[in-house]
Amino acid sequence: MAKMKIYVTRDQPGTILQNLGKLYDVKVNPEDRPVSKGELITEAKGVDGIIACVGDRIDGEVMDASGGSLKAICNAIVGYDNIDIKAATERGIYVTNTPGVLTETVADLTFGLILAVSRKIAEGDRYIRTGKWRGWGPKQFLGFDVHGKALGIIGLGRIGLALARRARGFTMKIMYFDVRRNIEMEKKWGLLFTTMENVLRESDFVSVHVPLIPQTRNLIGTNELEMMKETAFLINTSRGPVINEKALIQALTDGKIRGAGLDVWDPEPPSANNPLLGLDNVVALPHIASASIETRTKMIEMAVENLTSILDGRIPPHLVNKDVINVRPLS
Ligand code: DGY
Repeated sequence: MAKMKIYVTRDQPGTILQNLGKLYDVKVNPEDRPVSKGELITEAKGVDGIIACVGDRIDGEVMDASGGSLKAICNAIVGYDNIDIKAATERGIYVTNTPGVLTETVADLTFGLILAVSRKIAEGDRYIRTGKWRGWGPKQFLGFDVHGKALGIIGLGRIGLALARRARGFTMKIMYFDVRRNIEMEKKWGLLFTTMENVLRESDFVSVHVPLIPQTRNLIGTNELEMMKETAFLINTSRGPVINEKALIQALTDGKIRGAGLDVWDPEPPSANNPLLGLDNVVALPHIASASIETRTKMIEMAVENLTSILDGRIPPHLVNKDVINVRPLS
């Protein structure tokens, strides 16, 4: 019997994809760049499963390009805003993600951005490497303390909460806004639940931890940036379009906020002439919040576990579109 066909949009750490090749006919995009829509359409032909990543826009057209063979789209990431979930469900295609596994790793990097932008870590690094440093000086690279400051978290999901735990160690005052209040965690970690407006007005650091859905697109725009303190920093490790980039550029150049730590962009990658990349009060990273060897290895392992479950006829551990079970029950 011919092996089932799998397309993997990006090469992955570890040896799991080699092992997958023993079970299935696996094709991996050999290049270190996201695949285009055209490539996805070509590669989707006749496949049973796709392992996808950030930036792979998988819509109904890509799904139909399989000719009806596609059964599973398994993101090797936690977000799934790259996939048209409704289209997948209608076609009986199972969609999975990798929740939980990257929480602590993303929270580590988010706190790293808080420290980097407020204490000018990246700026100082650039300075010394370019041979500008002429010795210690009491007025050089004066940043702002993190300990004891107010942290505002927008979105108290797993990652927001993991960030709050880290902030406790820095004796920060922590407030949050979420569409769902979490009284248990408030008590456990000493968090203050308040409105989004209060979070924006009162925080020294505002960190955004929401999924990208229609309601969160441009969640932070001109009005929200106006509400922030002129001394505050904005941190984003969620998804670029959650912040209106034009409004952010304006706010930073007009001095409406003090700085930003950005791991995500709209679009990705940002163009080389994106003004944010020219600002010293911005720490810019290439979407690496989950990029530790331990976590990325676990992420692809989870994606493979989800994929093999579906293709073996079992409900996968991390199913996104639960309604699909009624459309195409697994036997
Ligand atoms: C995700 O998993 O959604 C991240 O953005 C990439 O790690």
